[in-house]
Formats: sequence, C-alpha cells, structure tokens
Amino acid sequence: MGKYSGNPAAAAALFEGHQVHRDVYIDPEVFRLEMKHVFANAWVFVGHASQTPQKGDYFATSIGDQPVIQVRHSTGDIHVLYNRCPHKGTKIVIDRQGNTGKFFRCPYHAWSFKTDGCLLAIPLKKGYADTGLDQTESARGMKAVGAVRNYRGFIFARLAEEGISFEDFFGDSLSSLDNMVDRSPAGRLEVAGPPLRYMHHCNWKMLVENQTDTCHPMVAHESSAGTAVKLYEELNLPEDAPKPPAMEIIAPFMSPYEFFENMGIRTWPNGHGHTGVNHSIHSNYSRIPGYFEKMVESYGEEKAKAILDENRHNTVYFPNIMIKGPIQQLRIFIPLAANKTLVESYIYRLVDAPDELTARTAMYNRMINAPTSIVGHDDLEMYERAQEGLEADGLEWVNIQRLRTGEEDFSEEVVENGTTERQMRNQFDAWARFMTWDTPAREAAE
Ligand code: FES
Ligand SMILES: [Fe+2]
Repeated sequence: MGKYSGNPAAAAALFEGHQVHRDVYIDPEVFRLEMKHVFANAWVFVGHASQTPQKGDYFATSIGDQPVIQVRHSTGDIHVLYNRCPHKGTKIVIDRQGNTGKFFRCPYHAWSFKTDGCLLAIPLKKGYADTGLDQTESARGMKAVGAVRNYRGFIFARLAEEGISFEDFFGDSLSSLDNMVDRSPAGRLEVAGPPLRYMHHCNWKMLVENQTDTCHPMVAHESSAGTAVKLYEELNLPEDAPKPPAMEIIAPFMSPYEFFENMGIRTWPNGHGHTGVNHSIHSNYSRIPGYFEKMVESYGEEKAKAILDENRHNTVYFPNIMIKGPIQQLRIFIPLAANKTLVESYIYRLVDAPDELTARTAMYNRMINAPTSIVGHDDLEMYERAQEGLEADGLEWVNIQRLRTGEEDFSEEVVENGTTERQMRNQFDAWARFMTWDTPAREAAE
C-alpha cells in the first residue's frame, strides 16, 4: 500500500494554495484517485450530439478511465452507457463509432439491449427460470452513467449517481459555450470530421494548465511562430498587403507580455476560467465575406455585433476540456496514465455560415494542434521535459504563485491581469474539492 492508496484526502492535501506537490503529476496512485473521484464527481465532456445524429448512432469514448458509449436512442435522446456487458463484462462495442440499429448485441453470448441500455433479450432464457436473475443488477441491462446533460449539442455526463447539479457545476461559465454556438446564424454546430489525435507522454493536468499559461507563447513558441514572423517581415511587403491566413493565425503567438497582461483572465467557481477578456490572439482575423450579413439576418445588428465582438481566447472547463469560441474548436485531454495523455482536437462547422470559416478553423487546427503541427511540438517538448524533470529529487514542489498576494476565494467570479496563474490555482482548488467530494471527511465538514 502506497501513501495515497484509498486516501483522497491525502491527495487533496498536495495542493497548498501557492504550490502543488510533484506527486499530483507523477504518482500512479494519485492518478487512480483522480479517476475514481475527480472524474466521477465532476461533469465531464463526452461528445457532441452531431457525432451521433441518427437513431442507433453510437460513439465509444471514455470518462476518466471508464469506457462509455454515447448513443442516440429511439426517442431521439442521447444516452451515455458504460461499455460493458452486464453478463460477464465484455465490451459491447469496439469500433470508435457506428450505428447499432435498434439494439446492442453482446458478441459473447448475444444478450441484447435497447439503446437506452435496458435488457431486451437473452438466448435460451428459460435457463434462468426460477434462478432469481430478475433480482440482479445484470437483469437491468447496460448500466447508464449517473447523469447526462445535452447543453446546446454538447454532451456532458457525471458518473456519480449523486452529486453537484449541472447548473451549479458550470454556472456562468456556460457563456463561453453559448458564444461558440451563437456564432452560427442557425444557433447550431456540427462536428467537422474526426478529431486530430496526438499522444503526449506527460500528465493530463500539464495540458490543462497550459491553456491559460500566457507567459509561455513568446518564449516556447519563438522557434516556430518567431521564425514565421521573421521570415514574413523579411519579405518587406507593403503595410496594406493582405496578410495570408496562416500568418494571421501564427503571428499573435509572438505578442509581447503587455498584450497578454491586458487581455485579462476570468475565473469562475469549480475550476473553470478563460483567457481573453478584453482581446485575444483571435481578435484581428479578417472578416469572411457574407458572414456578418447572415448573422444580422438571424440576430439583428446589435446582437450580431455583441456575439462577434466577444473574442475569448481559451476557455477551460474543468476537468479536461478547452474550447475556443471564435474558431469553434474543442480540445479534450484524455488521461491514460499519470504520464500519458491523449489529446483530441475537434472542430465544428457553424451551421448556415460560409464554408471559409470552417476552412480557417481547420487550418488553425492543423497548424497549432496536429501531430504534425509546428507549434504543438513546442508545448509537447516542455510538458515532456517537465514530466522527466519532476522525477529529480531535492525539490518536491511546483510553483503556481504568479500574482497571488494572499488567500484566495474561488467561489467568486474574478477578472484579473492576464498573466496571473489564478486559473491554475482555481483548477487545483476544484481538483482537491472533487477529489474529496464523496468522502466522509467532506460530509462531516458540511
Ligand atoms: S458476456 Fe455479454 S452476453 Fe455474455
Ligand atoms: Fe503553447
């Protein structure tokens, strides 16, 4: 038994307000506790409704380390079921996605289940007569997760049966998702193809923290973005020459510290927050012809302007996704082990908007987030160096103290200087609370 085994309170104590112990990134037992508690008690993103548009469409993924299936039931509702046969545990689906028709059928002994998980049929069922099978959990079929919510097409689930409500968990942070969806003249998004997938040999929290780390772009991305800017300047083009879209995307990564200080960071309760309160690296993209007119048609001029003037940069939804409203992107950081994380970067199409917007979004994804990206590798190098460096003995703590001048209250929405590390502390505050959410220690404290 290691020092954290079965002891979420000991793990939660690894966050001390201004610092976190290295074990939160490197210890396999802490990782197991995160999967069991944090990822069970929080609301976790599963998928987008447009990934399962037809009845019987399913999408296999995971919530923490739990294999689950998002499926469109015959009523049109989306259900999230554990990907496990109630007979002997066999995974029901193995493909990433598909259509199962009116029911799932286990490949081992052919028990079948409706698409809401209910048991439909068992071959040679008379063998269970008078056995009391109907009194067992197995007879209820494929188990559903604790709670599911479809928020404007985004499917979130909470594994735990009891816990914080969707509204309390997200609160006003939903404004970032709203803005992303409102950018469609039809108020609807559709997933644009499969995600870019990229394996990282580091802890999942390093990636989440990086999403609001505004003191790294001009340093870590100097080799990629800095080189691009330098080469472009050497072309000596006239001031008013139109900037190629790729330059519009990459140049802002080299913005100076003041740009990031002034952009601002907003933090919400429960570990959510976003960079880019006042402006962001997405603020100065060229207008796409015809798009604004479409927005005005749908929303009226004032509202259309308000939607498009919101240029939030990265919004982190605790525990493990980030969205970029202005370019309709969602990245999910899928924890596989203490030192292994799969990143999936999705893009969405704004229904009824010009295709050029999707083209720009796809270009951003390829340039910044693809395994072949010139920017993503800079970050990957830093995470993997940190993962290795943290094994060095002699120094056990990681500092997250920038712009922290005293005790902080994370139950309030706060806007601050854009180079603060408050959002990282906010995440760890939520991490520690959801780690111990379902423990007697917390129940006693309430
Ligand atoms: S394991 Fe699924 S039917 Fe037996
Ligand atoms: Fe970066």
